[in-house]
Amino acid sequence: PSDDTRSTILVERRERVGLITLNRPKSLNALNRRLAAEVLAALHEFDADDRIGAIVITGSMRAFAAGADIAEMVDKTFVELNADDILSDWDQVRFIKKPIIAAVGGYALGGGCELALLCDFIVASEDAQFGQPEIKLGILPGIGGSQRLTHSAGKALAMDLVLTGRTIGATEAKAAGIVARVVPAGDLLQTALEAAHTIAGYNAPAVRMAKEAVNRAFEASLAEGLMHERRLFQAAFATEGQKEGMHAFLAKRAPVFRNR
Ligand code: HXC
Repeated sequence: PSDDTRSTILVERRERVGLITLNRPKSLNALNRRLAAEVLAALHEFDADDRIGAIVITGSMRAFAAGADIAEMVDKTFVELNADDILSDWDQVRFIKKPIIAAVGGYALGGGCELALLCDFIVASEDAQFGQPEIKLGILPGIGGSQRLTHSAGKALAMDLVLTGRTIGATEAKAAGIVARVVPAGDLLQTALEAAHTIAGYNAPAVRMAKEAVNRAFEASLAEGLMHERRLFQAAFATEGQKEGMHAFLAKRAPVFRNR
């Protein structure tokens, strides 16, 4: 959707950072189909744009997102969901090559927690709350929570959250490895944007390769992952940015990456 037809998100460019703000305040940013389509379209647009080096997704102070839109789902049948998977848009997030940072304040519940986990890392405000309360609604996580939580936090906490539906705070989420940084609420967006600006200033092909290498750890055996990393490391020497980065270091000057 173009800028004027978007209704569920705000999209901005801050220098080389693309910022997506979930914007359905009346339902605490519940993830409906339209929002999914708009987020995906914005992500693809940023991913294709050389002027953008990293992406931040955020919500409001009260809620990153309180889950998939329960009102939209309530009357669905198995056959409808199976034929027309209302969640499948979200599967595409993992094919975005540029780093995506989730800046999470307030509630990140159900699909909201899963969307944060779909991002490459999470910066949380001190008041952020994470949980998979789907079990209370008679269902279970549907956009990867049972898998990604288990990878990042381990089986014990993943089982606890998915089976009891309890919510944890930012400090516990950080201790568990779900969250990268916890900051005061007033610093949340600034911290996430600064991290994104930092990333966007580096050699873009190396940034893509670094993201790919870390993600490989989730999909491959150690031997395969190490081989993949080694090939990517070698490939980094085919980029201009590698020469620039190393020559600049040796010349004691700041590198200027032209992203090729
Ligand atoms: C639709 C939602 C919503 C949701 C909140 N709202 N969460 N609408 N889908 N997931 C709406 C409320 O109905 C309400 O609308 C308004 O947002 C404000 O919410 P309140 O409940 O009044 O606020 P509060 O009392 O502060 O409680 C906040 C809350 C609670 C604890 C976050 O809203 C809550 O428990 N929400 C549902 C959380 C949840 O179960 N998430 C998982 C969804 S299933 P009105 O019109 O009354 O003002 C899911 C599946 C993922 O995510 C897998 C893929 C599908």
